[in-house]
Amino acid sequence: MNKIYGEGDTKVHALVDVSFSVKKGEFVLVVGSSGSGKSTLLNMIGLLDRPTNGQVSIDGTNTTTLSDDQISSFRNSKLGFIFQSSNLLTDLTVLENTLLPRNIQHTDQNAMNEAINLLKAVGLGDQMNKRANKISGGQAQRAAIARGLVNKPSIVLADEPTGNLDSVTAETIIQLMKSMAEKLGQTFIVVTHDRHQFGEVDRIITIRDGRAFEGEDPPRKMEIKV
Ligand SMILES: Nc1ncnc2c1ncn2[C@@H]1O[C@H](COP(=O)(O)OP(=O)(O)O)[C@@H](O)[C@H]1O
Ligand SMILES: [Mg+2]
Repeated sequence: MNKIYGEGDTKVHALVDVSFSVKKGEFVLVVGSSGSGKSTLLNMIGLLDRPTNGQVSIDGTNTTTLSDDQISSFRNSKLGFIFQSSNLLTDLTVLENTLLPRNIQHTDQNAMNEAINLLKAVGLGDQMNKRANKISGGQAQRAAIARGLVNKPSIVLADEPTGNLDSVTAETIIQLMKSMAEKLGQTFIVVTHDRHQFGEVDRIITIRDGRAFEGEDPPRKMEIKV
């Protein structure tokens, strides 16, 4: 798959012949330096944008053949998103925010119970009726994780989910994502520029200049020591 932004002088080849598949239940870390193409890759997998050529197949569906409307409903039913900032709606309660992806789908009455169970699982059992602007950044990101899971998506996509958090809070959020992934048998694809925060994961894909490699970059040899 390739993704090219712009034309002529401003053309950027953001993803170059990227090809890989992810198994159900895998926790995959996508690492690479700033500008390497990580978010572009996640946007392609998340069906937020289309590749210039090539295809993205999810659960056996080649999504490139779908119309924009079909893509939207496919995205809402199959994918869960966790972004760098929690993007909670401040006028709504934590519980209402968690339920937002379900409302789009007009699904069953169990949604409420499931959202409550998820909020308990992420440690917000006693915060769910607060307005979203009354909780801390770490709590907001916990709520964003619950919201990302409430649709029971096939794949959870997270782009720098701890990028706005201090390192101690980041650590708890990472542990939470890993334990939720394990508990629910969930597929996670998580983008980070800080591989070391994550400890052990099932798999690492490195992006360098738009190309994807299996595994981690080897540590660089020290050129200068002071
Ligand atoms: N919407 C866009 N239009 C033009 N260029 C873009 C756009 N989004 C990203 N890029 C460029 O594509 C490259 C990869 O960006 P990105 O995927 O955001 O990298 P990362 O998430 O690894 O920091 C960069 O050179 C960036 O400037
Ligand atoms: Mg990015």
